[in-house]
Amino acid sequence: MVNTLEADFKDDATIIEPSEKEVSVEKGQESLEAMQAVTQEKIQEELPYFAEGEVVKGFGRGSSELGIPTANFNDEIVRELPTALETGVYFGWARIGNGTTHKMVMSIGLNPFYDNKERSMETHIMHVFPEQFYGQHMKVFITGYIRPMKNYSCVDDLIQDIHADIKYAGITLDTPQHCELKEDARITAAI
Ligand SMILES: Cc1cc2nc3c(=O)[nH]c(=O)nc-3n(C[C@H](O)[C@H](O)[C@H](O)COP(=O)(O)O)c2cc1C
Repeated sequence: MVNTLEADFKDDATIIEPSEKEVSVEKGQESLEAMQAVTQEKIQEELPYFAEGEVVKGFGRGSSELGIPTANFNDEIVRELPTALETGVYFGWARIGNGTTHKMVMSIGLNPFYDNKERSMETHIMHVFPEQFYGQHMKVFITGYIRPMKNYSCVDDLIQDIHADIKYAGITLDTPQHCELKEDARITAAI
């Protein structure tokens, strides 16, 4: 009885093959993931990355529109970035003058949401400062990478992602691998 049922089932069964379109979407996804893995590997080879210089004014939208102020470097420092450090969101440590070293998140790139034309390095220091610090010396030590730059259809989605970046960086920077780098001589040396 069982055998008959199995035979009937086999006769009726239709094998659904994936369409050519489905196969090519799957392959596209696989090659995108492979490319992202290579990019991440190249980025990791350049980390940790140290940079320092004067804090200059950006467009000021970080504070006013996003409620997430950022400290910018001038173009010369941005041009020195290794090409392997692709546009994207990074994290690490930042220090203003000879002050305390704080956690930071940084965007490197063109900020597609605002359609910027020049690459920038924008550091959000995870600390509330009593006043602005344009013109002061800033040291940053980029110790990790989070994600590529994205475009958004609304500002709230950008803000939500930046808050997720801040949360991720806050937790990850407490791990020994990143904590150790806070004590690196390049960061701790007085200016
Ligand atoms: C952690 C972090 C992540 C960011 N991610 C993006 C992003 O994915 N896409 C984007 O267009 N801008 C991103 N930005 C950049 C913001 O758009 C930028 O800070 C904003 O343009 C304010 O810059 P301004 O103060 O120089 O005007 C990010 C900024 C930070 C600090």
